[in-house]
Amino acid sequence: MQSSLQTDRLLLRRWRESDRLLFQRMNADPRVMEFFPALLSSAESDALVDRAQAHFDRHGYGPFAAELLENQAFIGFIGLSIPNFGAPFIPAVEVGWRLAFEYWGQGLATEGARAVSRYAFSELSLDSLVSFTVPGNLRSRRVMEKIGMTHDPHDDFDHPRLPDAHPLRRHVLYRLKR
Ligand SMILES: CC(C)(COP(=O)(O)OP(=O)(O)OC[C@H]1O[C@@H](n2cnc3c(N)ncnc32)[C@H](O)[C@@H]1OP(=O)(O)O)[C@@H](O)C(=O)NCCC(=O)NCCS
Repeated sequence: MQSSLQTDRLLLRRWRESDRLLFQRMNADPRVMEFFPALLSSAESDALVDRAQAHFDRHGYGPFAAELLENQAFIGFIGLSIPNFGAPFIPAVEVGWRLAFEYWGQGLATEGARAVSRYAFSELSLDSLVSFTVPGNLRSRRVMEKIGMTHDPHDDFDHPRLPDAHPLRRHVLYRLKR
């Protein structure tokens, strides 16, 4: 299975040890983490990298580390993952993204996500992808829409990892078919 993808501006690749520090900084940035329950500690950020690596080892694909072709800067992740919680739409494969703040607003998430979804359908022969976020994460929802995903409010769900009254519990679900 392909272990990297290239777009006009991005290399999507397996993670490197040198990504960890920059990923820790991103996950400790309140702007990046606005729609998540908490900032991540360095150890929690590293655990996410470990999980991403394990996902590639186990399934042959996963959340790619994203780097800029022009200067090899690590900018975040764009890729696939299998959600490991219970919800009505599961089993499913999720397409997701998280970029360092300084790289927002240049179409990079959309560019990477388009390549990832093409790869999911053509190389991995998946039939469909999902993506989800809280209703207020308009930037992320816009990326979902730009890559052709659609939202049916009947699919919206409460994230089981968050307590009943948590303000981030409600999620919108988007789908993309092959
Ligand atoms: C979501 C995220 C990856 C988007 O990255 P990006 O490279 O800036 O995305 P793009 O530039 O490809 O597209 C962003 C779109 O959102 C739009 N947008 C930006 N701010 C917005 C806002 N406040 N309200 C509505 N739309 C907004 C942009 O205009 C753009 O749409 P357009 O091309 O139609 O103009 C980035 O903001 C991020 O990492 N956020 C924090 C982590 C996160 O929330 N991840 C998703 C969890 S589900």
